[in-house]
Amino acid sequence: MKQYIDLIEKTLDEYIPVKYPEEIYESMRYSVLAGGKRLRPTICLETCKIFGGNIEDALPIACAIEMLHVQSLIHDDLPCMDNDDYRRGKLSNHKAFSESTAVLAGDALISYAIQTVIEKSKNLSSDKILKLIELYTKAAGVEGIIGGQVVDIQSEGKKIDGEALEYIHTHKTADMFRFAFKAGGVVAGVSEDILNILDELGLKLGFAFQICDDILDETSTFEEMGKTLGKDEAEEKSTYTRIYGLKNAECKVNCLLDECYDILNKHNIKSEVIENIIASVKRKAKV
Ligand code: IPE
Ligand code: IPE
Ligand code: MG
Ligand code: MG
Ligand code: MG
Repeated sequence: MKQYIDLIEKTLDEYIPVKYPEEIYESMRYSVLAGGKRLRPTICLETCKIFGGNIEDALPIACAIEMLHVQSLIHDDLPCMDNDDYRRGKLSNHKAFSESTAVLAGDALISYAIQTVIEKSKNLSSDKILKLIELYTKAAGVEGIIGGQVVDIQSEGKKIDGEALEYIHTHKTADMFRFAFKAGGVVAGVSEDILNILDELGLKLGFAFQICDDILDETSTFEEMGKTLGKDEAEEKSTYTRIYGLKNAECKVNCLLDECYDILNKHNIKSEVIENIIASVKRKAKV
């Protein structure tokens, strides 16, 4: 895990230079290089490795996934969205720079990520690059994070049903986990059947991850999480915990994570790294 994180951070640092106009590059680097757990790029690299691919070949798409994730965080913190002042233990991008720079840095990351895949994926066939671009645009767009964020914002202060809650969690969060697993699979050249299995794994882990984040918003501390907590309740966000309660949320996380282990066992997918990620979500979701 540590080796992956070091490799991802070193490569992100190389990929994003500082040049004219400096402020936007500095703003992008400020959030991208601010730490974070690097779960999604780690999942991508590990999945590529499990299925016999070359980690170096997956590095551009793994870094693109992290850039897209960071974009979603920068925009999620804006005053017009969740209005949060801290992220990854530091001031949010719009607080450290300005709102206009934060909007533009997020926009810049969306296109720079995919530019990076196209420019740096030297050993990948055009077919694989095209497939990665397809996965990227779907996860980033209105059928992915954006759709999820729209319903999340629309649902503030409202009573929503289980179906709407499922839409929010699936698209604002789980879609990125699905993308990370599948991107690793694509680089390794796996079959359509395996891609479907990876999709299922990402959906369950990502869904559990968001419920766990909702639990931690109530149970954790700024020191542990590096971001403003307790805001979901204050803003009457439609979270799993608000609708079903903390204990039911924990049960749901455990259930989803057990299903992740079942998928790994059933298909004989052996990975200490993925198992450790599942175990860490399980541990943190304890109430
Ligand atoms: C935060 O994701 C956004 C959610 C989907 C809950 P992470 O908890 O993975 O954030 P970083 O990357 O570690 O900062
Ligand atoms: C955000 O969910 C998911 C994103 C697409 C960024 P949250 O709004 O709960 O994430 P945090 O708690 O601010 O990290
Ligand atoms: Mg949000
Ligand atoms: Mg938020
Ligand atoms: Mg949250």
